[in-house]
Amino acid sequence: MDKFIINGGRQLRGTVNISGAKNAAVAILPAVLLSGGVCVIENVPQIKDVTIDLKILAHLGADIRLLNKSAVRIDARRIRNVPIPYELARHIRASYYFLGALLAKFNHAKVSMPGGCDLGDRPIDQHIKCFKSLGAESVIEHGMVEISASSLVGTQVYFDKVTVGATINAMLASVKAQGLTILENAAKEPHIVDLANFLNSMGADIMGAGTDVIKIRGVKSMCETNYTIIPDQIEAGTYMVAAAATKGDVIIKGIIPKHLEPISSKLRKVGAQVVESDECVRVIGATEYERTNIKTMPHPGFPTDMQPQFAALLVLAKGTSILTEGIFDNRFRYVEELRRMGADISVDGKVAVIEGVERLTGAQVKAADLRAGAALMIAGLSASGTTQVEEIRHIERGYEDMDLKLKALGADIVKRKFPDVEVMARVG
Ligand code: EPZ
Repeated sequence: MDKFIINGGRQLRGTVNISGAKNAAVAILPAVLLSGGVCVIENVPQIKDVTIDLKILAHLGADIRLLNKSAVRIDARRIRNVPIPYELARHIRASYYFLGALLAKFNHAKVSMPGGCDLGDRPIDQHIKCFKSLGAESVIEHGMVEISASSLVGTQVYFDKVTVGATINAMLASVKAQGLTILENAAKEPHIVDLANFLNSMGADIMGAGTDVIKIRGVKSMCETNYTIIPDQIEAGTYMVAAAATKGDVIIKGIIPKHLEPISSKLRKVGAQVVESDECVRVIGATEYERTNIKTMPHPGFPTDMQPQFAALLVLAKGTSILTEGIFDNRFRYVEELRRMGADISVDGKVAVIEGVERLTGAQVKAADLRAGAALMIAGLSASGTTQVEEIRHIERGYEDMDLKLKALGADIVKRKFPDVEVMARVG
């Protein structure tokens, strides 16, 4: 069981380069199977979620070749429609994007129910609603989702709630349907736009991505393409907050400033300096921070994927801050761990009330999920003393080389391998 060991209290200083966006990559990679040809995808982040996606593509018959650390060549000419088993699908939530892609290519798909971060109830009813509206039948049994259609016909879908996953799956499923599909109340995240741009580069006809109405006119065939994934706004936001929490001075490079607006404005609100230029943003920390209130919302609201990381900053702000989680049922699993470091947080349902404290102290803590782990890393960087972060496999699902990037910014951090306690017990 690997751990990150952090000796906190050092200011982060220097420049960090942001990798490709995880949530764009895990939507674009399944879509490659629609090309029926050879695609080269660049700026692919080197993270565990991508590794799983590439394993699933190989399981379906794709030939995968890593061209360098962040580029992959995928030959989808021999893709076959076989079920995607639990052993592969259970690792990530995004495995369910293969439902939409395989349905569009073969009018049939069979994929194990998805895994991913435990953030409370995460149903897939809106995905199924869209597949059925396109003319597919859906059966869920033995842990597998099977959808099939004699043909897919364009339709109009109004999502009961804004959902990134269902918007992406609906785009994938309808891209070769007969006629026009209109998605209303669609999600508007940057990775929705990136997927639409990728699909259009393969010959799809999608308009309106990034707004709440997306129109997809079905096409008969699609072709191979080369494509570069957008930078990860959540990875960037994580380093921005880490710079502020350590009162440092960090340049975050290779970003799209517009994607960071909700994060930049909140950091300025609490007292950090945020200076934007074309492809980078500089965050200069303050000696102390003001309280603020945050409610996470669908894009362009404050992103839920930045909520835990921002909490790790607000625990040091003067006064009382209120964090309302507007998207998921239970995204406060990091709170207990921050309390072990001296944070004063109370949680009632979807609301966390944070009383700022003078400082945090290092402790042994456990990452419950990807962004909870990121929050603990930020807390460990700002705390006095040593913090051991366990279960870092969650962190490595979505952050490329986080320890190396932090070390390059002056953090005192090492990754240690520890034998599993269970293994030690057996060894006696
Ligand atoms: C995606 O998850 C991201 N994951 C999440 O990022 C992100 O937090 C989330 O979108 C919101 O931005 C990937 O892209 C792989 P949703 P997803 O469908 O698609 C409910 C991270 O840290 N809902 O937008 O699962 C759902 O329960 C991860 O990178 C339904 O009720 O999110 C949630 O309450 C964590 N029925 C809300 O909608 C459905 O059919 C938003 O979910 C689908 C969703």
